[in-house]
Amino acid sequence: MSETVRVLLSEEEVDKKIAEIAKQISEDYKGKQVHMLCVLKGGVFFTCELSKRLTVPVSMDFMSVSSYGADTKSSGVVRIVKDLDESIKGKDVLVVEDIVDSGRTLSYLLEYLRNREPKSLRLCTLLDKPERRVVPVDVDYTCFHIPDEFVVGYGLDYAQKYRNLPYIGVVELD
Ligand code: IMP
Ligand code: MG
Repeated sequence: MSETVRVLLSEEEVDKKIAEIAKQISEDYKGKQVHMLCVLKGGVFFTCELSKRLTVPVSMDFMSVSSYGADTKSSGVVRIVKDLDESIKGKDVLVVEDIVDSGRTLSYLLEYLRNREPKSLRLCTLLDKPERRVVPVDVDYTCFHIPDEFVVGYGLDYAQKYRNLPYIGVVELD
């Protein structure tokens, strides 16, 4: 069985949209410092590309989370693999994610962060699959709504592969 990747969103489309979102965020955070919180590993490409285009001061931190196994998944409990390096108390935190799917990871993470008393807390995602939502999540900035298909590239993986693709693609097994 071989795998091919069909382009869903080209590099140009993704870059253009990130520039637009960056402009919007720069306007919304005028006079403030954005504390970007990248969710590893998938959020890393988007965090870098977005941060390069922001015109307000930026600081960054990184977290890594993983979902528990399939049988306990419905509990919505996720494991913190790498926690914050610095306190977010009083900061304007912008969580940067690759994709919001069921919403389980984000709803847990946002609650976890809210308890650490940031001044503000917003969520920015490269992709959103609204059809798949199980737990509601307020998303402040979305680059693309996509259909319910498994996507790779721009940080997203399939069995740890394809994160480096400069576009968003759909894996096809044939
Ligand atoms: P959620 O908790 O179901 O919203 O999604 C959590 C994580 O599942 C995301 O941060 C991704 O790492 C992964 N994920 C969901 N959909 C996809 C996809 O289409 N491709 C690659 N990873 C995905
Ligand atoms: Mg992710």
